[in-house]
Amino acid sequence: MHKQKSNNTLDSKLEAVSMSIKQSIKNMDSFTHVRGESVYVDDINIKQGTFHGVVFDSPKAHGKIKYIDYSKAEALEGVERIFTYKDIPGANQIGGIIPDELLFAEDEVHFWGMPIALIVAKSEFIARKARALIEIDIEELPVITTAKEAKAKGSFINAPRSFSLGNSEKAFAACAYVFEGETFSNGQEHLYIETQGAYAEPQENGNIKITSSTQGPTAVQKTIAQVLGVAMHKIEVDVTRLGGGFGGKEDQATPWAVMAALASYHLNQSVKLILNRHDDLRMTGKRHPYESSYKIGLSKDLKILAYEAEFLQNSGAAADLSPAIAERTLFHATNSYYVPNVKTTVLSCKTNLPPNTAFRGFGGPQGMFVIESAIARAASEIGVSSRQIQEVNLLDENDTFSYGQIAKKVESKNTWDSAKSIFNLESLERNVKEFNKANSTFKKGLALMPITFGISFTNTPMNHARALVHVYLDGSIGISTAAVEMGQGVNTKMMQIASDVFSVPIEKIKIETTNTTRVANTSPSAASSTADLNGKATLMACNTLLERLVKVASEDLNVSVEDIKLKAEFVYINEKKSELSWTDLVSKTMLKRVALTENAHYATPEIHFDKTKEKGHPFAYHVYGTAIITTTVDCTRGTYEFDSVKIVHDYGKSMSEGIDLGQVEGALAQGLGWMTMEEIAYNNEGRLLSNALSTYKIPDIFSVPKYVEVIPLETDGDAMAILKSKAVGEPPLMYGIGAYFALQNAIKAFNPEHQLKFHAPMTPEKVLMSLYEK
Ligand code: MTE
Ligand code: HPA
Ligand code: MOS
Repeated sequence: MHKQKSNNTLDSKLEAVSMSIKQSIKNMDSFTHVRGESVYVDDINIKQGTFHGVVFDSPKAHGKIKYIDYSKAEALEGVERIFTYKDIPGANQIGGIIPDELLFAEDEVHFWGMPIALIVAKSEFIARKARALIEIDIEELPVITTAKEAKAKGSFINAPRSFSLGNSEKAFAACAYVFEGETFSNGQEHLYIETQGAYAEPQENGNIKITSSTQGPTAVQKTIAQVLGVAMHKIEVDVTRLGGGFGGKEDQATPWAVMAALASYHLNQSVKLILNRHDDLRMTGKRHPYESSYKIGLSKDLKILAYEAEFLQNSGAAADLSPAIAERTLFHATNSYYVPNVKTTVLSCKTNLPPNTAFRGFGGPQGMFVIESAIARAASEIGVSSRQIQEVNLLDENDTFSYGQIAKKVESKNTWDSAKSIFNLESLERNVKEFNKANSTFKKGLALMPITFGISFTNTPMNHARALVHVYLDGSIGISTAAVEMGQGVNTKMMQIASDVFSVPIEKIKIETTNTTRVANTSPSAASSTADLNGKATLMACNTLLERLVKVASEDLNVSVEDIKLKAEFVYINEKKSELSWTDLVSKTMLKRVALTENAHYATPEIHFDKTKEKGHPFAYHVYGTAIITTTVDCTRGTYEFDSVKIVHDYGKSMSEGIDLGQVEGALAQGLGWMTMEEIAYNNEGRLLSNALSTYKIPDIFSVPKYVEVIPLETDGDAMAILKSKAVGEPPLMYGIGAYFALQNAIKAFNPEHQLKFHAPMTPEKVLMSLYEK
């Protein structure tokens, strides 16, 4: 990566040194990943006598269960037992935000793929065979698959939410231009490489240990306790790492862990339950499809004076995280723009799809797509480029968001202007124009996409974490936090923090598994906040330990604590190396009976939100950035490539540049996929048609942009971010939204009469039709 500005020579030399350290930090998992040694749930050495579970799920999207016959399945050699709701000792209830979701269906089914029973057998193969022998008769009820139908029938998850600022109604009257329209953005399959799964092992006295591929160990623990009707301390949840989560394991890792625990509870045997890809695709929820309508009003000089939007969220058959996701749609409905008069409403519509769930961006991308669509529409009607509208409406310092937070340390214009100058937008645009003049069967399109994303769980009470740090008497260190490693590199960041504080090499530091007995009552690893929350807790614990160690050193060396520093595994007095090594200091501390263990709790300060007023200061800070996306469309075939994506991104002061760059690239690819090729399809009966990798296409190495450049914006960072290194997990996904509009611009170059539609994803089929539509 290159820095945007170069400083004077000395500064840049120092920077080069610290940068080389930051860049040399590799994701600590990369070695075991590459060698195939990383352990996932399916790799655990299972105990002798372990049983295997397969879930029997509803073959209809909505109906009354008239009769089920398990007898043939039960009679199959090797089948141990089949569990249904009747075997639940506690509550048949797994709803997180709203208690509206059963673990197993009772007499009705609400979506195709809804779990009805768990078949437990000597092998997964036998359990699968048994599943085919179950006979079921369902009396079908009307199926709702779209949010609009749900709205028409009054089928909702909860009450609507609305944010407002100023007076949009009045403002529209004063606008030179007013446009209204509709948009659709489809769902998205998480497609984590490791499918959902858990392994339950009975312990003494009815205790159960569960290894789960979950982003939320506490949610798993709490739900198992609730379903089994036992206290939480009887349940231990352990997570080594996930082969990807992307939000799909924030809530929806829970049912499988609960089922494995339930079977283990009854059988007093270990039980392994791993969904195969087909089962996972069919039974789990995805990103929420949204059907939305907008009204945008602009002045003669293209200022957006008023914006209204209604978002219909297709929530699926139960709440899951939908209400929180709906809320984040409202938080990000105006993206990076200041709009003085706003009214946005979101309705969580109950349908007969699997409950949709968290997915990178958490409703934010769905909100942003609508205002970007409204801008594109306005630009096309007025006869200007979207860029002209975007540019004059970018957020400024001290602007108010519709939810009442005052924008501070705003970098919208900074990233926008930097992107324009660093990447020479003028020449990029000229190239596109010249190319389009010279070519009739290939056309290029370019779009800019600014992003602004709020960092914190929008639900303020969730913003806390803990860390438990041991310094062992040989000077090595063990760290437990609530952070779940899912590929985003959070464990490496935790290591860096301890390495920094104690000045020991990362080889001396171990990040322990995430375990509810070591760090309890945690929020899931989500909202891009994992490194901030757990990192700050780790920093606090390490600093307390450091203070103790320095005190011992000062007594031992008879110098004042202010003169002491730890550097490269030695104690330094006034910057001069002493004889006292890190290891000796640690054993001296031990001999003095001073604690070498510390537990710290961090809760984000300053944030608050009042839902009765829909106003507050929910975010610790915002992340900003601007992307320029260029595409080439083959106008004979409708296929396309992304020539380049050029980004200026606000990392703050990145503490792990390689990892953060990986996050930007990965999120961008996921955003591009959502906007262009990933097409979820259900039929009218609520059956998932895109139920395999042959019918659901995600970006591969051939379809990611040929050239991606990410320039870090030079900023002071934010004190609320861990070591001023801003959260990076989700924000860059939304750069991908620009791809949709780049494609539209290429289509317009070929077919100027094309009426813009805002219906994502823009698959090659849709591109082809748009090219020839009159
Ligand atoms: N990166 C990888 N490799 N795998 C993942 O599952 N999840 C994303 C993002 N980046 C994910 C990822 C999502 S949805 C979130 S919220 C954040 O990482 C969570 O981690 P963080 O809080 O440490 O950024
Ligand atoms: N982001 C991600 N996950 C969440 C949030 C959020 O804001 N709130 C609750 N779960
Ligand atoms: Mo991420 S969608 O907050 O797990």
